[in-house]
Amino acid sequence: MQDFLSQFSGDLPMEDFQWFVKEVHRHFGLDLSGYKPHRMKRRIEILIRKYKLSSYQEYLRLLLSNSAVRDEFLDKLTINVTEFFRNPEKWWELRDKYLPELLSLSRSRFKAWSAGCASGEEPYSLAILLEELKAPVGAGVLATDIDEKAIEEAKRGIYESRSMISTPKSYIDRYFEIVDGMYKIKDSVKKRVTFQKHNMLQDPFPQGLDLIVCRNVVIYFEEHAKTQLYQNFAKALRIGGVLFVGSTERIFDHTSLGLKLLSPFFYQRVN
Ligand SMILES: C[S@@+](CC[C@H](N)C(=O)[O-])C[C@H]1O[C@@H](n2cnc3c(N)ncnc32)[C@H](O)[C@@H]1O
Repeated sequence: MQDFLSQFSGDLPMEDFQWFVKEVHRHFGLDLSGYKPHRMKRRIEILIRKYKLSSYQEYLRLLLSNSAVRDEFLDKLTINVTEFFRNPEKWWELRDKYLPELLSLSRSRFKAWSAGCASGEEPYSLAILLEELKAPVGAGVLATDIDEKAIEEAKRGIYESRSMISTPKSYIDRYFEIVDGMYKIKDSVKKRVTFQKHNMLQDPFPQGLDLIVCRNVVIYFEEHAKTQLYQNFAKALRIGGVLFVGSTERIFDHTSLGLKLLSPFFYQRVN
C-alpha cells in the first residue's frame, strides 16, 4: 500500500503536469523542477479536484486570477509539520556536545541558519539553547522558508500545545508565557531570531555560518537538487561549522563535499 501510494501520482497526464511546472516558473518565478514529481503532482491534483476543475490549464487560470488560491497553492505544496525540539535527543546532543565549542570559537559573531524553518519552532528551539548556554546577545539565528504564511506565523511566535510535546517543562516555564492555553515565546528568545523568505533551490545562500539546521526538507527534493543543496550548505559553513540534518536524512558522499560525519545527523566542514 505504502509503495503504491509513493508511486501513485494522480490521474491527469504527466505532460500536462510538466507544462504546468514550466508555466508556474514563468508566471511566479517558482522552480518546482527540484521536487519529486510524483508527490508534487499528486498534491496539486488534490487542489485541482477541490475546485472541481478537470485540467492543469483551468487551475493555472484560477491561480492567475485569485491571490487566495495562489497562497493556498504555495502553502499546500510544502508540508509545514514541525514542533519544538523535534527528535529531542538530537537537540540535547547539539546543546551538550557541539554548541558550546561552536560558541566558544565565534562568541557574539556566532551565526546559525535554520533553513526551511516552517512556523518557527526549529529556530526558536535553537535560540532557547543559546539562552541556556548564556550565549552573547549578538549570537543569532537566521530563519528562512519559502512559505510566506509560515513565516508570518513564525513571527507571531504563539503555539498550540501539540507543538510543545518534546519541550521540557523547565524550558516551558523559562521561555514561554501561557496565554489562553496557547504558548507565547518570550521576547528574550524572539530577539535572537531573524525571519526571511528564501527559496533554497533558487536564492543565494548566507555565508560563513557556524551552524546550519536543515531538517525534514530535502525529503521532498529530487536527487540532483539534493546534491546541489548539500554542496551549497557545505560552502556556506565556515571551516569547523556544523550541519544538522533530519533523522531520516543522510549525506552519502559527505567526504567529497569536505564534510566529516561527527555522529548520525551531524556533519562538520573540515576543508
Ligand atoms: C516539514 S517542514 C520542516 C520544518 C522543520 N525544519 C522541522 O524539521 O521541523 C518543511 C519546510 O520546508 C519548507 N520548504 C520546502 N521547500 C523549500 C524551499 N525550496 N526553500 C525553502 N523552504 C522550503 C516548507 O515550506 C516547510 O515549511
